Amino acid sequence: MRPIRSYVLRQGRMTRAQQHALDTLWRRYGVGFQDAPFDFDALFGRRAPRVLEIGFGAGDALLAEAGAHPENDYLGVEVHRPGVGNLLRRLDAQGLVNVRVICRDAVEVLQRSIPDASLSAVYVFFPDPWPKRRHHKRRLVQPSFADLVARKLTPGGRLHLATDDEDYARQGMHVLTRCSKLKNIHGPGVFGGALLRAPSRFEQRALREERPVWDMVFEG
Ligand SMILES: C[S@@+](CC[C@H](N)C(=O)[O-])C[C@H]1O[C@@H](n2cnc3c(N)ncnc32)[C@H](O)[C@@H]1O
Repeated sequence: MRPIRSYVLRQGRMTRAQQHALDTLWRRYGVGFQDAPFDFDALFGRRAPRVLEIGFGAGDALLAEAGAHPENDYLGVEVHRPGVGNLLRRLDAQGLVNVRVICRDAVEVLQRSIPDASLSAVYVFFPDPWPKRRHHKRRLVQPSFADLVARKLTPGGRLHLATDDEDYARQGMHVLTRCSKLKNIHGPGVFGGALLRAPSRFEQRALREERPVWDMVFEG
């Protein structure tokens, strides 16, 4: 049976710069999918706290975070190839060495390639909202996703979810609150945490359009 995906692959137009970045920089930053847990120490060439960002889009938050925290390693997962090309180009321009990129469904990556208890944080910033009720099952944040992420977090590791969709915020809070292995750092049912993260492209759009943003941070 085909799994339900949280995205629709619209590859869109790849700019020449994005394609060039994929051709020349994938070798440096790209990680092929593997059906076995990664050896993170080998992948990054050191031992450090590891952060996973799911659906980094244009990569604004990832670039800002990785630049501000050279002491951490960052793994970005995104299915949209032009976005991946864009991030590679910007990683190279900023000379960042603590980021690796996977172009694959993050659920599969979590299930198959991420070792248990290996991530100090998982970021999900502005996941595709799937606003129609009949599409809610396509939302990334589901009970099985919460359990999976909880299993991958180190003790005290954090899951940070941000969205500008009020219904998704409510659903996210409900699902994460019900996960017995996660605890809201702000207290039961309380939103917060925007200051704990860098701004993302979708957030900038929400703010320009004067739409509110909801953040929630849960600890494993
Ligand atoms: C609404 S965009 C937000 C992008 C970025 N986080 C931001 O805030 O600007 C959601 C992104 O998540 C990606 N995405 C959705 N489901 C995914 C999955 N299962 N694995 C990897 N990427 C996914 C989409 O391709 C898209 O780029």
